[in-house]
Formats: sequence, C-alpha cells, structure tokens
Amino acid sequence: MVDARALEDLAVDIAREAGALARRRRGEGVAIAATKSALADIVTEADREVELLIRDRIAQARPDDGFLGEESGAERGASGLTWVVDPIDGTVNYAYGIPHYAVSIAVVDGEPDPQRWEAVAAAVFSPAVDEMFRATAGGGAWLGDARLAVSEPTDAGALLATGFGYDPATHAGDLARLGRIMPVARDIRRAGAASLDLAYVAAGRLDGYVERGLQPWDHAAGALLVAEAGGVVTGMPGERPGRTMTIAASSSLHSRLTERVFHES
Ligand code: IPD
Repeated sequence: MVDARALEDLAVDIAREAGALARRRRGEGVAIAATKSALADIVTEADREVELLIRDRIAQARPDDGFLGEESGAERGASGLTWVVDPIDGTVNYAYGIPHYAVSIAVVDGEPDPQRWEAVAAAVFSPAVDEMFRATAGGGAWLGDARLAVSEPTDAGALLATGFGYDPATHAGDLARLGRIMPVARDIRRAGAASLDLAYVAAGRLDGYVERGLQPWDHAAGALLVAEAGGVVTGMPGERPGRTMTIAASSSLHSRLTERVFHES
C-alpha cells in the first residue's frame, strides 16, 4: 500500500533542500553550461548539481524507487514508483537572474509514461518567494495551510499562460494557436516555468494554461496540483498531458480552450 502522504512529505523536504541549493548557486553567479536542443534549451551547472542532490536524497530514502530526471535520465526501480524530477524548471529565467523558477518533483505509480502513470504525490517549490505547492492523489492541493481551488471565470476574460516549445518547427503553430485563444483571454502570460504555470492554475492565480512541447518532468507535478484543485488537465484529444499538448483549467474553461486549440478554422 502506497503511503501518499509520506511520499509528499519526502518530496516537500527534498524540494526545499534542492531549492535552497539552487538559490545559493544563483547568488554565486550562474553560467550556461550547455545549449541542448535549441537556443532556449539550456543547462547550467546548478541544474546538474541540484538534480544530483535530489537523486541522492531519493536513493537514500527510497532505494527501490525509479527515477526520471531532466538532466540525468531514467532508471527503473523495483517498487513500481518513479520520481519524476525537474531540478530547475525555468532554467532560462534562472540563468538570466529572473527569480521565477521552481524545483518540480512528482511521484508516480506504474509505467514511467505520462499516458499510463498515476500520479501519487507532488511538490513544486518556488525558492525565490519561498512558496511550496504540494498535493497527494485524493488529498487535495495545498499552499501552506490553504487548500487550492482552480478559478471559475464567469465572464469572457480569462488570464491565461502559455509557453513555446523548443522545436522551432512548431513555433508557427504556437503563434496561430495563440491567435485562436486570445479571444477568450483577458491577457496572456509567458512566464517561463511550466510547473509554476500549472501550480498557479491550481491556486487560481491563472485561469488556464496551454502549451505544446512539454516534457514529463515539466508537467508531472503541476498536473496533479491542478487535478487536486478541481481542474482538468489533458493533452491531445482523449489523452493525458504530453509532449504534443497540455491544456489546464477549470472544467468549463478547459472545454472552451480545447475547442479553440484544436479547431483551426
Ligand atoms: C521549460 C519551462 C518553460 C517551458 C518549456 C520547458 P526547463 O523547462 O518550463 O516554461 O516553456 O517547455 O521545457 O527547460 O526550464 O526545465
């Protein structure tokens, strides 16, 4: 039997320690260590160091669990649980000194594939403002002592967030999609950290979020936060969130957004 609450507590503790390290390294000055698939797809030494710390803490506490991390890849575990980790989500912000980045940690049950796993527990920590978003399956999403609930925008205006995937071939489609969702928006944000976009939807700070091109570690924790806050998170029609689409909002706004995202005329 999985003790989701214990996993959440461990994820929160590790995210807090990892966030403190990220913040300390940021204060010492950060250099881009490598550019990966695109100019916006970068890694700093701090990303690698923070992921190592997280991986080490998980291995000490839960040696039978698997791991899937942005910087160091995947390792299957014997327990059936996998820790899905983005050590610094929002690396471009982090590298440029913009204090909007997060440590994102999810624990999932089953295949390490977002189309098939069941998320069990999540922590998204924003070190610069000391905000810890956390959730367990069935136990709600929380920020401190406040239980989170998605917003239910009643008029036509919704504050939406989006992002642009790293594949330049998809950018024309991203812009066309923005043109279709603008009519239901009060305004649009591209804040640069998907896990926080999702956490903010869960907290009702954003009404909705649409992005193509996310990796599992970008959305695993945030998607559980939104679901536990009463929202809906999907991907392509009939699918869960994935690389080709992530749409998150309250049920009614989610329907309106889905209509606009997929109906191109
Ligand atoms: C990125 C951020 C960004 C999103 C990208 C992600 P990273 O994560 O979440 O907001 O638009 O798709 O890859 O690379 O900074 O961990």
